[in-house]
Amino acid sequence: MALVTTTEMFKKAYRGGYAIGAFNINNMEIIQAITEAAKEEQSPVILQVSAGARKYAKHEYLMALAQAAIRDTDIDLALHLDHGADFEICKACIDGGFTSVMIDGSHHSFEDNIALTRKVVEYAHAHGVVVEGELGKLAGIEDDVKVKAEDAMFTNPDEVEEFVTRTGVDSLAIAIGTSHGAYKFKPGTKPQLRFDVLEEISKRLPEFPIVLHGASSVPQEYVREINALGGKMPDAIGIPEEMLRQAASMAVCKINIDSDIRLAMTAGVRRVLVEQPDVFDPRSYLTVARSEVKKMVQHKIKNVLGSSGTL
Ligand code: G3H
Ligand code: 13P
Ligand code: ZN
Repeated sequence: MALVTTTEMFKKAYRGGYAIGAFNINNMEIIQAITEAAKEEQSPVILQVSAGARKYAKHEYLMALAQAAIRDTDIDLALHLDHGADFEICKACIDGGFTSVMIDGSHHSFEDNIALTRKVVEYAHAHGVVVEGELGKLAGIEDDVKVKAEDAMFTNPDEVEEFVTRTGVDSLAIAIGTSHGAYKFKPGTKPQLRFDVLEEISKRLPEFPIVLHGASSVPQEYVREINALGGKMPDAIGIPEEMLRQAASMAVCKINIDSDIRLAMTAGVRRVLVEQPDVFDPRSYLTVARSEVKKMVQHKIKNVLGSSGTL
């Protein structure tokens, strides 16, 4: 088993009406939780690394941990750079063994986005690595970039064909109403995903893998538990799971989840530290945090992604 690109995963997912979970990794416990869940579900999975994660844990450690997870679980993994901001970080990840990179030119003009994305694609493809581009702007926070809801922009279906043809990207992240972070919508509001836009995009790009960022559903049981144990998470809701499931059955082949991992871990750590104030062994609370993440990932694979049993 090995680090693989997402090419075969996406082909099967598109035809099978399911999506692959791309879960953000920051440390050993998160990697173990995700890969053990994938193994038990016999599901393909993508481990993705943000610039912040790479700075926190260091490239070499994350690479070595991903390789260790492959040996431990005996499943193939894709290792992906999440939200690469420029050519340099994409090149560093390609040279450093990642099998997939995202170049996020969504904050640039259409022409500048194409030029930057094309440059990354040329380098990546020459090294056997696949590339995800982005068109449209999601609301929310990613790394240090904050996009206000009013500045978010749905992807324009009229632009996707030209973008994909001129850049040569292997997959495309689009904006249809999801947003980054744990504070997506106020309780009581009704989140809407623009399935009409997704449908239109998939007509223009037949059999082409579409990516959804900002797809955490912010499970209310974690928010309630964290706050009951002294936390101060503002009341907020995420993307309803049934909407994500519907997107996964359409052209969406990759669904990104980070915030729900953070919530699961935080709930687990708080529970141990509040209920057992004498605990000071990190293994005690990290064991619980790890198993909360594993449970959450397993739930997503079964109920949201629909990728169980597809290995
Ligand atoms: O979309 C962004 C991801 O949630 C990564 O977050 O940059 O804080 O690691 P981060
Ligand atoms: P969430 O913040 O909704 O988990 O989105 C994560 C993401 O899109 C990573 O690229
Ligand atoms: Zn994202």
